[in-house]
Amino acid sequence: MKVVSTIREMRTSSREARARSRRIGLVPTMGALHEGHLSLVRAARSHSDLVVASIFVNPTQFGPNEDYARYPRNLKEDCALLELAGVDVVFAPSVEEMYPAHATWVEVEAMSNRLCGRSRPGHFRGVTTVVSKLFHIVEPDLAFFGQKDGAQVAILRRMVRDLNMPVTIEVCPIVREADGLALSSRNLYLNPNQRKAALTLYRSLLRVREIFDQGEREAAKLIAAAEAEFAGEAGVRLDYFEIVDPDTLEPEPRIWKTALAALAAFVGNTRLIDNILLEP
Ligand code: PAJ
Repeated sequence: MKVVSTIREMRTSSREARARSRRIGLVPTMGALHEGHLSLVRAARSHSDLVVASIFVNPTQFGPNEDYARYPRNLKEDCALLELAGVDVVFAPSVEEMYPAHATWVEVEAMSNRLCGRSRPGHFRGVTTVVSKLFHIVEPDLAFFGQKDGAQVAILRRMVRDLNMPVTIEVCPIVREADGLALSSRNLYLNPNQRKAALTLYRSLLRVREIFDQGEREAAKLIAAAEAEFAGEAGVRLDYFEIVDPDTLEPEPRIWKTALAALAAFVGNTRLIDNILLEP
């Protein structure tokens, strides 16, 4: 496994592979890797010849009062995990390498203020900008993302379509702990009590699915049931719970086709997200 930190070296590796007609699969990450990330690497491994994983804590997707400075960074351990999972090239650039100076943004305007975009202004613009840059640097045939970030997936698909980017986006299912908590690098911030309280997120989604399976199709009723799960929970504050079209992220007042039930909540100061698909 090669670890490269410059755009020039990354391009050389990609172009060599391309010259030999090898299919390039990219797994973009911000590091602090867990089984969720590794599931994407495994999918990439089975669908590509050259597997590239990027590790870059992207400053442009964090708000001024968010956790950019303290986001966990452990390149050494991450590389060991990636090597075991069969990655060929790790691209781990510095901020100076990625943003020596920066004035150009990629934004999916119709969608960037939905879900997390509403409480994190500029977040999705940072994501689409950095992913565009990664696509230009690595030139992958396939790029792998997790359903964990359901809105991110919808927005990136739209970006690729609108800008005719020659890459196919593959989406992998959410990997959860045995008790249901979705794996996240930010789970590292939780103390044992918060770790227990964090289960409220998944419990609210299961409750919504239960009522949905009993026939409820009104989003307002489903959302009220989810909110009730949070009402009695000290130390957990719901940021939003929404039911939207999984492609456009437009709210769905009544569910008649597959819908995305998505939420964000603060457990202490840690903001976590989760989602499920509701299929009539
Ligand atoms: P990060 O949060 O590190 O996640 C990298 C990828 O791993 C994303 O596609 C995310 O959806 C996926 N992932 C995270 N937890 C997962 C889980 N429990 N199950 C399945 N997949 C999971 O998402 C980002 O980084 C950034 O926004 C990025 C796309 C790298 C751009 O900076």
